[in-house]
Amino acid sequence: MSLKTKVTLEILKLKKKAHEKIVALTAYDYGTAKILDEVGTDLILVGDSLGMVVLGYSSTLPVTLDDMIHHTRAVARGVRKSLLVADMPFSSYGISHEDTLRNAARFIQEAHAQAVKLEGGRTLADVIQKMVSVGIPVLGHLGMLPTHVIAQSGYHVQGRDVRQQKEMIEDALVLQDAGVFGLVLECVPTTLAREITEKLEIPTLGIGAGSDCDGQILVSHDLLGLYEGMKPKFVKQYAHLAQTMREAFKSYADDVKKGKFPSKEHIYS
Ligand code: KIV
Repeated sequence: MSLKTKVTLEILKLKKKAHEKIVALTAYDYGTAKILDEVGTDLILVGDSLGMVVLGYSSTLPVTLDDMIHHTRAVARGVRKSLLVADMPFSSYGISHEDTLRNAARFIQEAHAQAVKLEGGRTLADVIQKMVSVGIPVLGHLGMLPTHVIAQSGYHVQGRDVRQQKEMIEDALVLQDAGVFGLVLECVPTTLAREITEKLEIPTLGIGAGSDCDGQILVSHDLLGLYEGMKPKFVKQYAHLAQTMREAFKSYADDVKKGKFPSKEHIYS
């Protein structure tokens, strides 16, 4: 796909058909979003992982709707071609249909997202149908669900036993029928992710779900080695930015203390 093309829901569907892998990453700020957009990332997610990698919480649960709106607005300013999706945080959906719809609409209207993501299965089908019917595209999310960390007793691979596998396949089909345009599969066995991917007409995005998904998504801070709190097995680090930053800040401090900075080229006469 040309880097000039605006990514649409239709393009993601066509990519699945053409067996062209979809590239997705998270962003929480303008600068990162601009770079991701420039390099041709298909889908940028303002994940509620924001809570852990940017805001310093130990889970995503404390992230508020206003936190997500604020960061999505910043990301939107950097995005021109990528599809921009915003995560709905814990308790902003699923309590009442009316609140869910109103909260989702804020992401589109105030924050300029093009879609929202919700974690969960069949119990969300009705509200997803309503969202889609009023023009709010929805990305589903099954498997390990960070907003269900208490109910799932921590961060574990999901779908290892036959009952869970059957349930997840059924959930995926129900979500597809409800109108989601794609599905994130997080921390599920490769064989299950493959089966779901083959059964669905909509694209799957894997994170810890093997290479047979239609695309891959990672938390950018993990890929960059910027978040040092947790390193799941599925993360590949392409850089070590935390270490690079430590070295840069230390060099600056050394230069200041020794009077080497500012030098001639950094001062005004
Ligand atoms: O919050 C997030 O960043 C996510 C991705 C890990 C898919 O949901």
